[in-house]
Amino acid sequence: STVPVIAIDGPTASGKGAVAQAVAAHLGFHYLDSGALYRLVALLALDNNWQQSDELTADKISELVHWANTLNAVFDVEHGGEYILLNNIEVSARIREEATGNMASKIAVCQPLRAALLQRQRDFAQSPGLVADGRDMGSVVFPNAPLKIFLNADARVRAERRYKQLIGKGFSANMSDLLHDLQARDARDMSRAHAPLKPVEGAFVLDSSSLTLDETVKAVLDLYAAVA
Ligand code: C5P
Repeated sequence: STVPVIAIDGPTASGKGAVAQAVAAHLGFHYLDSGALYRLVALLALDNNWQQSDELTADKISELVHWANTLNAVFDVEHGGEYILLNNIEVSARIREEATGNMASKIAVCQPLRAALLQRQRDFAQSPGLVADGRDMGSVVFPNAPLKIFLNADARVRAERRYKQLIGKGFSANMSDLLHDLQARDARDMSRAHAPLKPVEGAFVLDSSSLTLDETVKAVLDLYAAVA
C-alpha cells in the first residue's frame, strides 16, 4: 500500500508507546500498539488459567491461533487515556499489568500466533498514515515502511520509567522485580527464533536514556520530515 508507515520498535519500557502516540497525534496519523494485541491474547490465556510456566503444546498453540482469529477488541482514546475493550469488557488497566506483559512475551514466541495477528496489524495502515510500535514492525509487519526507528534506553532507566508508570496508575511495584522481569522479557524477545527484537537494516537507532519524551518525539519527527 502507499500509506506511509512509521515503524517504531524497541524493548520493554523504552518509551515506544508514548513516543509513537505523540508522533501520530502530531502528524494526524493512526496508531497501532501491536503489543496490545499480544497482551489481549495473553489476557484470554490468563482468564483460562494458563500459568506462566506452561509449555506451549500443540493444543495450546491452536487455542492461541483461535483466539487471535476471533479477537473481539476495541481500541479507543477516552479523556486522553487509553480505552480497550476485550469481548465488550474494559481491560484498559488489566492489560498493563506485569503478569499480562510477561504472559504476552511467553506466547509471542509462537509463530502461528504471530501469523494469525499479521493481517489484523496491517489493516491499521489507513490514510493518511500510521505510526506502529512493537518488536517487529520494521522487520515483518511493515517491511516497506519509509521510516524505521529502533528506540532503546538503558535497562535501569526503563525499569524506573515502568515503575513510575505503574505507580502513577495506582498499581504497586518493586524496582528490583521490575528490572529482573524486564531483562528476562528482553532476553526472550531478542533470542526467539521468529521475529526477534533487533534493529532491522535501515532502522535509525535512537537511545532515549537521556532524552525527554518531547526530545525523542522531535527526533522522530525530524527523521520523518527528512524521508517524507
Ligand atoms: O510492547 P509490549 O510490552 O506491550 O509487548 C508485550 C509483549 O508482546 C512483548 O514483550 C513481546 O514479547 C510481544 N510483542 C511482540 N511483537 C510485537 C509487540 C509485542 O512479540 N510487535
